[in-house]
Amino acid sequence: MANPWFESVAEAQRRARKRLPKGVYGALVAGSERGLTLEDNLAAFAELGFAPHTAGLANERNTGITVMGQSLSMPVLISPTGVQAVHPDGEVAVARAAAARGIAMGLSSFASKPIEQVVAANPQTFFQVYWVGTREEMLARMERARRAGAVGLIATLDWSFAYGRDWGSPYIPERIDFEAARRYAPQVLARPRWLWDFARTRKLPDLTVPNMVATPGEPAPTFFAAYGMWMQSPMPTWEDVAWLREQWDGPFMLKGVMRVDDAKRAVDTGVTAISVSNHGGNNLDGTPASIRALPAIADAVGDRIEVLLDGGIRRGGDVAKALALGARAVMIGRAYLWGLAANGQAGVENVLDLIRDGLGSAMVGLGRPSVAELSREDLVVPPGFERQLGGTAVDSALEPVSPSRRRREA
Ligand SMILES: Cc1cc2nc3c(=O)[nH]c(=O)nc-3n(C[C@H](O)[C@H](O)[C@H](O)COP(=O)(O)O)c2cc1C
Repeated sequence: MANPWFESVAEAQRRARKRLPKGVYGALVAGSERGLTLEDNLAAFAELGFAPHTAGLANERNTGITVMGQSLSMPVLISPTGVQAVHPDGEVAVARAAAARGIAMGLSSFASKPIEQVVAANPQTFFQVYWVGTREEMLARMERARRAGAVGLIATLDWSFAYGRDWGSPYIPERIDFEAARRYAPQVLARPRWLWDFARTRKLPDLTVPNMVATPGEPAPTFFAAYGMWMQSPMPTWEDVAWLREQWDGPFMLKGVMRVDDAKRAVDTGVTAISVSNHGGNNLDGTPASIRALPAIADAVGDRIEVLLDGGIRRGGDVAKALALGARAVMIGRAYLWGLAANGQAGVENVLDLIRDGLGSAMVGLGRPSVAELSREDLVVPPGFERQLGGTAVDSALEPVSPSRRRREA
């Protein structure tokens, strides 16, 4: 390729589409059912406008912030994703890119690389868990993450096992065996560069999940075996959440909160942070865009815990919009996956640079020298944009505090 650099996440996605076998690309696009939530996550950001100034623009771009005790160069984190088979270096490449750009890494428990290697690549790594198996098994995985040096835990609980997409789900093999190779061959042979990347490592994607076992190097289950185990685990209660939180001595995020009442319960269980998230539109279809639910949640609990947002971030301007509506930081999913697929570690760095520069441009135009100053007045929010799910944002006895004021005072 003449120039591996790309100028937008959309371009990275186009390259990913050309480069990846159809099934792998389809697994990243994901979404569920009709794809309403997936679509709304993107559409909602497009509805929000900016109210820029003409003169007196900002000269500085102070993007630094702390999240869950970690000092970050910008308010962006890598959201955990199982990036099976996208690139031979997988999460290690993502972690290196994040470290090179001074941001934190979220590592999925369904990831393809062991946590020990990921922490070595980026010491600012948060380990993400689902509610899978017995409490003892969960403790053993968390203990391994702690020993490996994970600096925080992310518990993702918004998963309701929806399957079936109106546009068709990709075929994902249990393991790469003869049958899988036969079914995958036409797709793979149509994408020789992807195959070459793996061929150079002399390994094919093995589709196992090494962080689901207690000891590094222990034989790991396949992605599907782990998924089956998860389906058979009882759904966690709020008492279980409180138990999980107690077991982790350190910063703890509950990911996948969409309702004000749940956000308040999360505060009660003693979490450090939540991410307002609908799992990137992969969970219960028909859930509104996370950015629509953010303002009410930030108003309700933003003074007590750190409120993050993920879902639909594709450019720096989107980060500015989320911060203006009350997020302390955002997490990105597909944006970095497209970068990884397009150009490995350099592709992820490319995406992070685009996001940082886009955020910087928004700050200049809005006359905000620091991210903490971004506020609702910087946005054009169309009537009816927000969705307040589950209860009132602010207890009537409490004075509402705008997110920007809260951040300035923090
Ligand atoms: C392919 C894929 C795999 C994902 N796997 C996980 C996972 O293992 N754990 C998790 O907490 N979230 C997972 N997510 C959700 C992301 O962490 C994040 O919430 C979502 O991607 C944000 O939306 P965005 O892709 O629009 O940025 C996954 C998302 C995608 C697209």
